[in-house]
Amino acid sequence: MEYTVKSGNPEKQRIGCVVIPVFASRKLSSSAKIIDKASNGYISNLVRRGEIEGDLGNTLLLHNVENTLCDRVLLIGCGKEKDINFKTFYKINCNMVKTLQASGATEIASYLTEIPVKRKEISWKIQHSIEAIDECLYKFNQLKSKKEEARRPLRKFIFSVNGRGQLMQGEQAVRQGMAISAGIHLAKDLGNLPGNMCTPDYLAKQSVKLATQHANVKTSVLEEKDMEKLGMGALLSVSKGSREPGKLITIEYSAGDKKQAPIVFVGKGVTFDSGGISLKPGAAMDEMKYDMCGAASVIGVLSACADLQLPVNVVGIIPTVENMPDGIASRPGDVVTSMSGQTIEILNTDAEGRLILCDALTYAEKFDPDVVIDIATLTGACIVALGAHPAGLLSNHNPLANDLLSAGQTSGDRCWQLPMWDDYQDQLKSNFADMANIGGKGAGTITAACFLSRFTKKYHWAHLDIAGVAWKSGTHKGATGRPVSLLAQYVLDKIQANK
Ligand code: BES
Ligand code: MN
Ligand code: ZN
Repeated sequence: MEYTVKSGNPEKQRIGCVVIPVFASRKLSSSAKIIDKASNGYISNLVRRGEIEGDLGNTLLLHNVENTLCDRVLLIGCGKEKDINFKTFYKINCNMVKTLQASGATEIASYLTEIPVKRKEISWKIQHSIEAIDECLYKFNQLKSKKEEARRPLRKFIFSVNGRGQLMQGEQAVRQGMAISAGIHLAKDLGNLPGNMCTPDYLAKQSVKLATQHANVKTSVLEEKDMEKLGMGALLSVSKGSREPGKLITIEYSAGDKKQAPIVFVGKGVTFDSGGISLKPGAAMDEMKYDMCGAASVIGVLSACADLQLPVNVVGIIPTVENMPDGIASRPGDVVTSMSGQTIEILNTDAEGRLILCDALTYAEKFDPDVVIDIATLTGACIVALGAHPAGLLSNHNPLANDLLSAGQTSGDRCWQLPMWDDYQDQLKSNFADMANIGGKGAGTITAACFLSRFTKKYHWAHLDIAGVAWKSGTHKGATGRPVSLLAQYVLDKIQANK
């Protein structure tokens, strides 16, 4: 899709369709008023007759409106102005896309930038219009033999800005929206690919590809024999049950000051989680192909950073394995030694995420990080606690947690903090090793984070449990690309703060 910005009156746009907001009840936006005036009261007449109330979900497509240069005018109901938030703004954009797809228009001038969204300015609206439009248009078709293509696909959106003074700002917002949206798209594709295709090797190849596309991205891949030398006994204990060799991928994006400590993202990359010998029940087991969505979000956010050539140093670390049952798979009760030297009793082979993350988190020390943020579909308990709306957030450093909470508010890709008090650490006691890999009954998301906290003492660290947000189940089953938007916003905020 092509996106641009332009300032100018709606009746003067020589284009397939002009999109105009209308509010509840029957309240015209400024662009609607302008078209109304040009067309001698046509819009206000329609509104008076009750053709459109302005409620959220209302749409009215008009053709050949008098004294306009466009083929169509699409009125979009936005509900009450004071009720418009992040969610409704997305819905409004999506309603626009769905109506446009059913029309013949391919090039669009959108005046939805006029919609007031609480505490958000025009840049935010442009960036998030792009994210919303792409979200609404996303389809995972690559594995279907018959591709369903739209007859006349949408080609171009031009966002209206208020005067030339907003053009530069608007163009920057377009770049940001497109780069982040491409990162989300990439994360979704990786997530939706099945376990027989998106293997650890595939994730490594995609990460290497990122390095071929940008001069300041470098990717390296550790094989199992390399990890043995580093003593990554925890990670390897998971990977050994699968025919697919495990890998540790490192993607380094260096465009900041050489002396600037990097932001390190660590993404859980279990390309399929059967549970191992502690086998999962059969229902919905297919969804465990999404157990690499943390890794996908890391690749997605690095792709966005590199697209935008942001002046920062970011490192992505992806421990990636497949968790399978096998004759040489780990057994419940096995004790392994992690790269940190700490020993772990594997009481449940289905708590494999923390086993691969702990070695990756120790490995992260070598980058002298500013902060380390891991992203993982780690616990079903997180879905019980928070549902599908926010990611779970746990951290050993409150300023970092606050930065993530705030980036979540800005991006709409939210997280919610859970306590990581020492009281919970006792649940990890083992009679046979330094710790057990499960915490027993209660607070499963917190005890998982407590486990990780034993490997992150040397730096500021936050953990995002994305089990509830990384994909949707049911008829709309599919990856969401979350939390690419949150992470990208975190990086952007960080650059602003360092200026
Ligand atoms: N990948 C799962 C977590 C998960 C389950 C995410 C369902 C989303 C939906 C993880 O590896 C896992 O199996 N966790 C166990 C931990 C338990 C054994 C302590 C869980 O949540 O049941
Ligand atoms: Mn598991
Ligand atoms: Zn898992």
